[in-house]
Amino acid sequence: MLRYLTAGESHGPALTAIIEGLPAGLPLPEDYVNRQLARRQGGYGRGGRMRIEQDRVRFLAGVRGGFTLGSPVALYIENRDWASWQEIMGPGAGARLDQRVVTRPRPGHADLAGALKYGHRDIRNVLERASARETAARVAAGSVARRLLEELGIEIIGHVVRIGPVAVPEPGGDEDILCTCLAETGGVAEREAVSTPDLSRLRELLDASPVYCLHRETAEAMMREIDRAREAGDSLGGIFEIRVYGLPPGLGSYVHWDRRLDGRLAGALMSVQAIKGVEIGLGFAGAALPGSQVHDEIFYSREKGFYRRTNRAGGLEGGVTNGEPLVLRAAMKPIPTLYKPLRSVDLISKEPFTASVERSDVCAVPAACVVGEAVVAWEVAAACVEKFGGDTLQEMKANYRRYFEYLRREAAPDMAGE
Ligand SMILES: Cc1cc2nc3c(=O)[nH]c(=O)nc-3n(C[C@H](O)[C@H](O)[C@H](O)COP(=O)(O)O)c2cc1C
Repeated sequence: MLRYLTAGESHGPALTAIIEGLPAGLPLPEDYVNRQLARRQGGYGRGGRMRIEQDRVRFLAGVRGGFTLGSPVALYIENRDWASWQEIMGPGAGARLDQRVVTRPRPGHADLAGALKYGHRDIRNVLERASARETAARVAAGSVARRLLEELGIEIIGHVVRIGPVAVPEPGGDEDILCTCLAETGGVAEREAVSTPDLSRLRELLDASPVYCLHRETAEAMMREIDRAREAGDSLGGIFEIRVYGLPPGLGSYVHWDRRLDGRLAGALMSVQAIKGVEIGLGFAGAALPGSQVHDEIFYSREKGFYRRTNRAGGLEGGVTNGEPLVLRAAMKPIPTLYKPLRSVDLISKEPFTASVERSDVCAVPAACVVGEAVVAWEVAAACVEKFGGDTLQEMKANYRRYFEYLRREAAPDMAGE
């Protein structure tokens, strides 16, 4: 079983995570994780905090000489502005708890509900942990999972498809949104190319886009919209899409509700701060269509084995991967902390006030997309560890290969042994 916990306050000394259940022998360079941490910090529309923090991971346990040992991996990401917060946030009895006290709950945050739940009279005790700063630890843990998936030939890519009112044009019928994006850059727009796209090319395009959007024209309009929101003292949400390629059929299970991979993926994405909706495949649009336009018919050929001509199910049927790429979308609400003040009531005095801020993100959809990739990577890796097990990477890969051989035999029994 693959599991992890994170700990850490936003202005505490560090964020940490402990991962348990990784096989031994996985190559795991710190820089691999750092690259994902940097992507989380990027994206057009971020606020001042991102300039202070330059996240870098340190492995405190479980990794030696660049390889996992099979023991728990402890990750540590220092909070760079800890120096200016240690008197207030220190764990000792001498901490200045009377400084920078927050009693004004911000609408859209955990502030009020969290203070009431835990009996805190200083809302700082809530916001320090409820903050999306925590997602740095989740991206680090997710990067480790992603590294493991790479060893099995499974790749994850995320891209932003909407920011506020600006969206990548949705293609008609069964055409894939990647077709629209690839066609714009002169790429191939056929289904075959979309079900196994050139991921390194897509990553290049994403790295060149400040909003992590593959459609250049839309990306420019998104940035203009973010500028408009910033000038108006407002904020924006949006939608990102996560895809997973190279998956075998058979991850997850239909046999029990908590083993369904669709449920786990949706739960993981919904647990990301500010995510308010998750779709798999056609998702909500499918509810408006007749069944004949929703389900993916099954075909067979000796060359391909079982295959589909459409992927409206987003790669999951009955909570189990069906061999098609996973296609997931998540909707993020607009950032709740606004320059434009919102009305609220003081926790202690009960006096009304208007909540305003000095620094905050205007739009964090691109960053949330990176977090989405991380949490999806985690769930897929956990499903792979469940199915293929193994104490070492070598053992896991051998189990994986054996499963593929079995699938090949099932797909073409008359070719067994060829
Ligand atoms: C990557 C990322 C960055 C975020 N940055 C901010 C921010 O700068 N200011 C803010 O008010 N909320 C920000 N949020 C959203 C809040 O953390 C979130 O809305 C809040 O904790 C309440 O949780 P909920 O929206 O899930 O109910 C961010 C979320 C993510 C995923």
